[in-house]
Amino acid sequence: MATSSSKRAPTRRKYDVVLYGATGFVGRQTVAYFAGLRPSVHKQVRWALAGRSAAKLNEVKAACGAGASNADVIVADAQDTKALDALARSAKVVLSTAGPFAVFGSALVAACARNGTHYVDITGETPWVREMIDEHEDVASSTGARIIPFCGFDSVPSDLGAWLMNQAMQEMHGEPCASVKSAVTMRGGVNGGTLASGINMLASDAVKDFMQPFLLNPRDAAGLAGLPDDTSVDADPVLPAYDPDFRAWLVPFVMGPINTRVVRRSAALLGYGPQFHYQEYMRMGAGPIAAAAATGFCAGMAWSKFALRVPGVRQVTERLMPGPGKGPSERSMDNGSYRCELVAISPSGKRLRGKIADRGDPGNRATTKMVCEAALCLALQLEDLPQAAGEGGFLTPASGLGDVLVSRLRAAGMTLVAGNEGG
Ligand SMILES: NC(=O)c1ccc[n+]([C@@H]2O[C@H](COP(=O)([O-])OP(=O)(O)OC[C@H]3O[C@@H](n4cnc5c(N)ncnc54)[C@H](OP(=O)(O)O)[C@@H]3O)[C@@H](O)[C@H]2O)c1
Repeated sequence: MATSSSKRAPTRRKYDVVLYGATGFVGRQTVAYFAGLRPSVHKQVRWALAGRSAAKLNEVKAACGAGASNADVIVADAQDTKALDALARSAKVVLSTAGPFAVFGSALVAACARNGTHYVDITGETPWVREMIDEHEDVASSTGARIIPFCGFDSVPSDLGAWLMNQAMQEMHGEPCASVKSAVTMRGGVNGGTLASGINMLASDAVKDFMQPFLLNPRDAAGLAGLPDDTSVDADPVLPAYDPDFRAWLVPFVMGPINTRVVRRSAALLGYGPQFHYQEYMRMGAGPIAAAAATGFCAGMAWSKFALRVPGVRQVTERLMPGPGKGPSERSMDNGSYRCELVAISPSGKRLRGKIADRGDPGNRATTKMVCEAALCLALQLEDLPQAAGEGGFLTPASGLGDVLVSRLRAAGMTLVAGNEGG
């Protein structure tokens, strides 16, 4: 739905998009993505690279060839409020990949909120986003800044998937969804930056908040206070189970505690319906071997959750894993893939199926595509974005970018399908 009622969209700024954290493992891929935009888009976007080291930024720029040659370099340390204010004032949209976000992200979000600058990132750190909402929602609403975290693999496929299933259920059956569930299969590696962010959260008090199923919901919505009991449909799954809809053994998906919170915030902001529930799982396959693997996986996950909170074990793990700035090889990132199968059920029992899928390592190739296209939605198609987003404040990919992001991602090769009957 088009809107022209933005409270205070940024007036003309020097850059359409500033890529902050451009020297990191994902950051370098965002620079390559912008450098490689097809000419008709490339010529519309004025963009710059930003980070704490001019020398490193210039190296990244040079490595990205002719497509990056006109991009400026902006130096701003994550704790330098003055430099971040200047950066935010120069940009219509800031795209940040500098994480752990709880360590390097807070001053930048504050600067964007204050200066009416739209913002997207790839965080999966839900407790940090809760803190940012509580601190900056009012300011962002007053300046019209649209702050949209979770624009990477956490949580674009989940959030757009649940949103599309709701739309399809309404269109095909005139009912909302009572539940949507997703079974994920993926092939990809892990970045040092992702491990650093996870370990930073596990080592802090924020880990308690991480378990809260409605952590990101607006404060006035029911359910934010207190954990549900283990039998609640919204509690995080812990055990393996055979699911007849997917005809497969499912286990808890490691990113479920992030993605479910984002989908539930979208459900609250967009009004999916009073009975809406969302869960997600990892698909293990059918048969006795898959059943045994599912049991082993759950036991391993329970053990690692406990062990990683023990300082000695955590330090050894940190030494064995890739450090910040490192990640999978180019070949392995190109050979990665993911697929989320969705099943939605209406209050009267109607069932729909859907699929979100793409090629490329989820945490790198897919994340880069998603966050760059999210930034381009705000930079180039502001007037086409969902009406509610015109008010500014903290949004989700679905509530802030909706079908504009869906179209851009489809055009960029991602599969987003909702509404096959059956099951
Ligand atoms: N949503 C998803 O699916 C997804 C996927 C991948 C990653 N992530 C998240 O994205 C984040 C980045 O991951 P990554 O693998 O790219 O990490 P990384 O390679 O370690 O990159 C971290 C970035 O932060 C910058 N940085 C560090 N200290 C800074 C400071 N004081 N001021 C300004 N910048 C500073 C680094 O700059 P220098 O180069 O100068 O050190 C670098 O650009 C992590 O939080 C990770 O969890 C999310």
